Amino acid sequence: MGEQKDSDGKRERGIRSFEEAPLIVKLHNVVKIYPMDGVEVFALRGASLEVRKGEFVGIMGASGSGKSTLMHITGCLDRPTEGEVYIDGEDVSKLNDNQLADIRNGKIGFVFQSFNLLPRTSAISNVELPLLYAGVSRGERRKRAKEVLERVGLGSRLDHYPSQLSGGEQQRVAIARALVNHPSLILADEPTGNLDSKSGKEVMNILKELNGQGITLILVTHDREVAEHAHRIVHIRDGEIIGEEEVSKDNE
Ligand SMILES: Nc1ncnc2c1ncn2[C@@H]1O[C@H](COP(=O)(O)OP(=O)(O)O)[C@@H](O)[C@H]1O
Ligand SMILES: [Mg+2]
Repeated sequence: MGEQKDSDGKRERGIRSFEEAPLIVKLHNVVKIYPMDGVEVFALRGASLEVRKGEFVGIMGASGSGKSTLMHITGCLDRPTEGEVYIDGEDVSKLNDNQLADIRNGKIGFVFQSFNLLPRTSAISNVELPLLYAGVSRGERRKRAKEVLERVGLGSRLDHYPSQLSGGEQQRVAIARALVNHPSLILADEPTGNLDSKSGKEVMNILKELNGQGITLILVTHDREVAEHAHRIVHIRDGEIIGEEEVSKDNE
């Protein structure tokens, strides 16, 4: 009964409740230690986090607090030193590199601060890359890459090289590349960090739209204004989750 009351209260305050949705991400007591010149660097010190399908979670914390490490481990780019990581209920913390790659290719899209596009490769070929790794035929690759580039408003920039695109356009290519495998989860690590405020807003609008279409979104940012687009903001300090807040949508 207490729960019912709580979620009614949330609805009154304009907070969307995801209590009923299944967990897509669960980190339990995740520790990550990097060995550096014989010294152990603790990047995460027992971080726990749960994210439900359809949520948009913002992650905020100072530089060096472990945000990118958290994203890499959640995104199956790296394994924890200790602790468990569940993606769609499957414990991925002890999978080998090939198994991790399969989870990534099947479920997860990444967007990075620095876009990470191949410079001498056209927009459409950059977007096709994940499909090439997945063994999709050339014709099908073109078709799907074109579709997602159109979806991010770049249907007229298919053959442009990254150097011929603005920062905001390059990040939209990176979003299209993240989308081309139809991920259920997008991880965005400071996606607006290298953009002017207008391009940053465009990129945020696209990410929010994708979340509105059902893709779970976890987004790291330094920028409070950007974080407030999320349903919930999680704060991290010195490798620990120190608190979270729900964002009211009353003002929208
Ligand atoms: N590959 C690595 N090797 C050694 N130390 C690392 C490595 N990656 C990150 N660290 C250290 O781990 C801590 C957390 O880093 P990071 O997750 O990148 O933080 P953030 O993204 O919040 O700036 C920092 O002290 C950083 O120097
Ligand atoms: Mg970082």
